[in-house]
Amino acid sequence: MTTAPTKKKLKRKTVPELRARKGGEPIVCLTAYTAPTAELIDPHVDLLLVGDSLAMVLYGMDSTLGISLDTMIGHGKAVVRASRQALVSVDLPFGSYQESKEQAFRNAARVMAETGCQSVKLEGGIEMAETVRFLTERGIPVCGHVGLTPQSVHTIGGFRSRGRDHDEATRIVEDAKAIAEAGAFMVVLEGTVEPVAARVTEETPVPVIGIGASPRCDGQILVTEDVVGMFTAFRPKFVKRYAELGEELSAAVKTFAADVRTRRFPESEHCFRSEPRKITG
Ligand code: KIV
Repeated sequence: MTTAPTKKKLKRKTVPELRARKGGEPIVCLTAYTAPTAELIDPHVDLLLVGDSLAMVLYGMDSTLGISLDTMIGHGKAVVRASRQALVSVDLPFGSYQESKEQAFRNAARVMAETGCQSVKLEGGIEMAETVRFLTERGIPVCGHVGLTPQSVHTIGGFRSRGRDHDEATRIVEDAKAIAEAGAFMVVLEGTVEPVAARVTEETPVPVIGIGASPRCDGQILVTEDVVGMFTAFRPKFVKRYAELGEELSAAVKTFAADVRTRRFPESEHCFRSEPRKITG
């Protein structure tokens, strides 16, 4: 008897494994919001982030503020289901953790239990350290996020790069250290000038993952749709395009539409041709 080939179960990367990569081989991270994307990119990355950037990239919002916890959980479930070896982290959305450490625990626990992800990410530095400690001491691995924190876009006054003056630079370094000392296993550093990114990486005892924060970090993260040309509303300076899938999609759909209109599609190979069977009684 033959058996159907089974998918070999791969061991997922763990929080301690990634934590131990400080100063070592660069850590590769990308966002994933859906099952098909997660399945395609999982073999190539160390960490998949279900980022709240999906508010802008998938839902067309003009900031990340409007996305709900339930929506993040739905996308988190899909990404965990479709991935096999990358560690999955899910963003806690705006308003789901800032009120109190108890609120943060309740919502982070829901995200972990309902999605099966291995960690959550939250934004903020010194002011969130107590919350990070509360979560990590209770079994919730936390990835921090400092520098440009998109959930504070209205306080900051836009998506501008950070660390350009002495006070701001010092605060970013202190923020990253505070979050790491509170137990975060990793810190995302966004939109921060290179000399400050270098200091943050040097002085923070856990891996610092840059996005728009120069090569002087322990790893890099980008939004996958930016990398492959599927998000064209705007392109931040720090994005490198590795493909133009948006253009390919548009060209493919244009050809499909023309084929339907001229009856070139479907062709015989796309049809079920057999004659109906005679029913004998
Ligand atoms: O929401 C997100 O995708 C992020 C990354 C860009 C770091 O936080």
